[in-house]
Amino acid sequence: MNPLRSTILAASRSRRVRHGVESFGATRRVVDRFVAGEGTDDALECVHRLTGEGLRVTVDHLGEEVTGATGADATVEAYTSLLAALNEKDLARGADVSVKLTALGLGADEHGARDRAARILASARDAGATMTIDMEHSALTSTTLDVVESLRDEDPSVAAVIQAMLRRTERDASRLAADGARVRLCKGAYAEDAGVAFQRRADVDASYRRCLEILMRGSGTPLVATHDPAMLTAAIELAAAAGRIPGSYELQLLLGVRPDEQRRLHSLGMTVRVYVPFGTEWWGYLMRRLAERPQNLAFFARALASRR
Ligand code: FDA
Repeated sequence: MNPLRSTILAASRSRRVRHGVESFGATRRVVDRFVAGEGTDDALECVHRLTGEGLRVTVDHLGEEVTGATGADATVEAYTSLLAALNEKDLARGADVSVKLTALGLGADEHGARDRAARILASARDAGATMTIDMEHSALTSTTLDVVESLRDEDPSVAAVIQAMLRRTERDASRLAADGARVRLCKGAYAEDAGVAFQRRADVDASYRRCLEILMRGSGTPLVATHDPAMLTAAIELAAAAGRIPGSYELQLLLGVRPDEQRRLHSLGMTVRVYVPFGTEWWGYLMRRLAERPQNLAFFARALASRR
């Protein structure tokens, strides 16, 4: 394993490192910038601020790889409380929640995870919100897409996520585009083997463009998740070439990443949705991202630098 990656992974499991790093101001600034906060109230405040500026949101309750039923049920409770609170504050309509199936116990019990996702979906629908199922590592791609398909039988607005880095993704994009699905296209945040994933950035970007074209020409709603200026430009051009109006697709960016660009794109009439993570499990969110794809070190470093 790459020594940098193994160091970050070791740090992600160490409470001692977490506490040490927490007291280091720069990292605290990174957390504050990339995570809305630890509680539901923090998420509400962030959603209120972003939607007040005309941006849309997809809210992620941080946490994954939950194995016991108690923890998985707690994830459902966190989302249903969040949705009730959003509804009470009149912030739910048009909002989206991003859910990881491993936070619902997928590793231990696929049917249980699917049923828990259906409970969150019911709350989202009641509140006038939508749901996206985040994509995790490639061993879970088929199962995750199967669960999304089954949930789409109940509510066709449930969005799938596909990762341009995977060799299979063009096929998934074609199938989902023909189905009229909401589909978030991202590059992919996980370290994957060459057998299943493109390893060179140029190949991932080329795959991203091919998938974008498929989604833009399809009958669904493409959700273009990237901060890459070249991919954002390609999305806008391909949408225009396919005869799409701005509201028929979304540009999605992470909280704290290129915030000026988020506002600029919104001012051009684009639908821009910000991914808002919240919860106490922020350490894993930040560190696993770095570990899964060490190039993201530069991504976080750039973000820190651009804050000054
Ligand atoms: P990349 O990291 O390759 O950067 C490309 C370029 O973007 C840079 O060269 C630079 O020009 C610009 N850029 C990036 N960050 C910048 C910054 N801070 N300041 C200035 N310029 C910057 N992954 C996954 O596996 N499953 C999932 O479900 C999701 N979900 C998801 C939702 C949303 C809304 C987003 C935005 C992303 C995800 N991802 C994800 C993560 C995704 O797969 C990917 O790891 C990151 O978005 C980084 O890839 P980019 O496409 O942003 O470009």
